[in-house]
Amino acid sequence: MNNIFCKISLTLAFAILSICARSQDLNHSFRPGQVWPDNTGRHINAHGGGIIYYNDTYYWFGEFRLPRYEKDKTRYGVSCYSSKDLLNWKNEGLALKVITDSASLLNPGCVIERPKVIFNKKTGKYVMWFHHELKGQGYKAALTGVAVSENITGPYSYIRSIRPNAGAWPQDFPEENKKSMADGKELKNGSVEWKQAVVEGLYVRRDFDGGQMARDMTLFVDNDGKAYHIHASEENMTLHFSELTDDYLDFTGKYYRVLPGESNEAPALFFSKGKYFMFTSGTTGWKPNAARLSVAKKISGEWKSVGNPCRGTDDENKITFGSQSTQILPVEGKKNVFIYMGDRWIEDNLADSRHIWLPVEWEKGFPVIKWYPNWSLNKIK
Ligand code: GAL
Repeated sequence: MNNIFCKISLTLAFAILSICARSQDLNHSFRPGQVWPDNTGRHINAHGGGIIYYNDTYYWFGEFRLPRYEKDKTRYGVSCYSSKDLLNWKNEGLALKVITDSASLLNPGCVIERPKVIFNKKTGKYVMWFHHELKGQGYKAALTGVAVSENITGPYSYIRSIRPNAGAWPQDFPEENKKSMADGKELKNGSVEWKQAVVEGLYVRRDFDGGQMARDMTLFVDNDGKAYHIHASEENMTLHFSELTDDYLDFTGKYYRVLPGESNEAPALFFSKGKYFMFTSGTTGWKPNAARLSVAKKISGEWKSVGNPCRGTDDENKITFGSQSTQILPVEGKKNVFIYMGDRWIEDNLADSRHIWLPVEWEKGFPVIKWYPNWSLNKIK
């Protein structure tokens, strides 16, 4: 009798202990800047990423960064994690992997940044675009790559990498700017004259035949189902909003220049309360700078800058709480509820870069962000 009682109590104690241990492992709130363990206890390695919602689940795609001195670059690619509650993420492995064939542009040693995935209702396929730089060429190539999959978690099949909109002029590009012979070679980078020449399309003309540059990027599906590839172009001086074809796998050749000459990157867009909003950063590489908010009535613009959306101390606002935007995530099932997702880059160990997620709050009809070291979803109503 005693023996049985003892066994039952032991089993019970063991069960309670393991439940406690497991619940201790769960993430209960967002803790921006801290290590964010996945279901295996490792920091989430999905940087410059984006999330889509499908079948009651969120899927997070991002840069899977290898340790800096890792010699084996074949494990590199785009990671995918899934979650029901945005706090606890299951590692789904690499959705897109580099291809171990030196003839492929996506070979080990290339750079993949800011991957984003969208779903195409017409084809029933998931489409991934990413900023792609070629092995050993730094940031010179300025290409965008595209891959496709029938399953959300992949594997994604790589299609190609290109410079968008070769042979096409931007919408509303003045005739006289198309004809200008100026190549800007005599202008000093950063001078007032050079900036004016950039605004008037200096680099658009230079890259007309080969295609426009595409570095930092995001994707945005508009309310009518049309998708846009939004990328830092013209030597990072101007954003291009480039329309994608119906299957989202190519460019239509229709594109808009947004905030010409204003040097924006890290674009993150959302639609709320009848307006389009966009968070961007300035261009200081891995070092954070002040976020910028822009607003438009139509996706094609005109986009107006409305200042810094950060509401912290001056020092915090200057560096966006130590982060750079990557996406503004709509929270499923809640109206006008969004999360700011940013990266706090750790340049010499990018895999360890921290995720800065903050609730989007509203001030006089404009989105703003404040710092919370520890917060949960019920913070945003
Ligand atoms: C940042 C950009 C990152 C990465 C980095 C490289 O400005 O947002 O995605 O490209 O530069 O220096």
